[in-house]
Amino acid sequence: MSIKDFTISTKIRVYSLEESDEQTKKLINKAKEATQTAYAPYSNYHVGAAVLLQNGEVICGSNQENAAYPSGLCAERTALFYANASQPHQAVETIAIIAHHEGDFVKDVCTPCGSCRQVIAEVESRYNKAIRIVMCSRDVVYEVNSIKDLLPLSFDKESLG
Ligand code: THU
Repeated sequence: MSIKDFTISTKIRVYSLEESDEQTKKLINKAKEATQTAYAPYSNYHVGAAVLLQNGEVICGSNQENAAYPSGLCAERTALFYANASQPHQAVETIAIIAHHEGDFVKDVCTPCGSCRQVIAEVESRYNKAIRIVMCSRDVVYEVNSIKDLLPLSFDKESLG
């Protein structure tokens, strides 16, 4: 086999908060509210996530830190695990994420960490439905239509054979 390269490209939609449609704006506002429930005494980085389910319900989560650092959990996983545990038959449509730090929403878009990407990938595969991911800063939104755009070549149940 001859050595070759291939490229994986990602399309990210960028728009301002004001340009977002009404439903997305509402979801972002829920994520903003959720930052107030974060327990983040170590990082002071308060993250909120709002998950829109197929039935229209919104489930929120925030990061929950721990003195034993790895025992804490990110906002995205808190929200997704709660959504799946409370409504296991509802697929996830959208997740919106935003962070608050030192008195304001952050100026850089809040993107999910690697572990959260892996969990979002599992939820997509569980319900066989792409999840729209809305990543926000104080004035800009980055949006992708699927976790495949943030976690290409992911390990999933197919990988197990
Ligand atoms: N964090 C989240 O909750 N979500 C992200 O997307 C990035 C990071 C949390 C983990 C930790 O509590 C704090 O933010 C700083 O890393």
